Amino acid sequence: MAYNITLIPGDGIGPEVMEAAKMVIDASGVKINWEVAEAGAKVIDEYGTPLPDYVIDSIKKNRVALKGPVTTPVGKGFRSVNVGLRQSLDLYANVRPVKTYSGVPCRYENVDLIIVRENTEGLYAGIEHNVGDVAAESIKVITKKASDRIAEFAFNIAEKQGRKKVTAVHKANIMKLSDGLFLNCSRKVAEKHKDIQFNDMIVDAMSMRLVQNPQNYDVLVMPNLYGDILSDMASGLVGGLGVVPGANIGEDIAVFEAVHGSAPDIAGKNIANPTAAILSGVMMLKYLEEYEVAKKIDDAVAKVLKKGEIVTTDLGGTAKTMEFAQEVINNL
Ligand code: NAI
Repeated sequence: MAYNITLIPGDGIGPEVMEAAKMVIDASGVKINWEVAEAGAKVIDEYGTPLPDYVIDSIKKNRVALKGPVTTPVGKGFRSVNVGLRQSLDLYANVRPVKTYSGVPCRYENVDLIIVRENTEGLYAGIEHNVGDVAAESIKVITKKASDRIAEFAFNIAEKQGRKKVTAVHKANIMKLSDGLFLNCSRKVAEKHKDIQFNDMIVDAMSMRLVQNPQNYDVLVMPNLYGDILSDMASGLVGGLGVVPGANIGEDIAVFEAVHGSAPDIAGKNIANPTAAILSGVMMLKYLEEYEVAKKIDDAVAKVLKKGEIVTTDLGGTAKTMEFAQEVINNL
């Protein structure tokens, strides 16, 4: 059987790491017809928007996409394509497994946690305005519906993966109503899942504890902004943004993409680490229930990382993006 999958190359290092991921997936034996859909600044002239309808339509038709990072202008310009995509397709759960791979230089061993980030609201709701020229306001939206379903999602993933604990991360001591609602929803959902331990932690304390003892955490569920920040921080615990994959999951649509952005500082040099993009592909294959192929690729990546001979500069090596990908293929 062949799958039809939307491929969004993105910009910056996107096209480089996506080419590497595509090459590895194609070499693994699974049959995929890739439908390439471009988004971001490069399509604005032609379509008048960085997120043309045909990109959304392609994902709606295929139900699954593998996506590269897309640059968002800072402090001005168009709204984030990434946030737009997540909101318009209602991809409510952002899932980021953070784990140590043997051989990857980092300070910790045996980290294996999952960040589950609410992906559609919070401070990313896009409700911002100026108050004259003396102030600006952003409105943080937390709803019961989105909080219930993200908590439910976190417990379901814990159960499916045989994990033991869910920790809700919040700032309900200060944002008593909005984060308070998020926390109350998490607590109520926890009562329905007695088989999984539940606790909660304030986001600042969580940050410290993650740096001190990341091994103590299992599944973390949190509102949008905390999830964004803690994902990058957690990536730093296990070797950096080059190695952490991710998925945006909705009711029956999913878009897989690494945690990292378009990395303009290294774009076009063929030195970006494609591990995160390849592992996002592994998450995609598991979603498609292609468990055998997914494991084959994951094992090959783990082998190459463990040997540490042909790895990219962020991991202390000298290999180019495509050399790493070729080495993974050699180890399939
Ligand atoms: P970034 O994640 O692109 O880069 C942060 C640092 O990590 C840079 O030094 C970069 O070189 C390094 N890095 C990232 N990925 C790497 C990889 N695969 N291999 C080796 N090194 C890697 O974050 P930054 O610079 O804050 O954002 C750049 C642009 O990306 C912005 O426009 C931002 O809005 C966008 N972005 C897009 C995302 C998406 O499309 N999902 C997610 C995050 C940021």
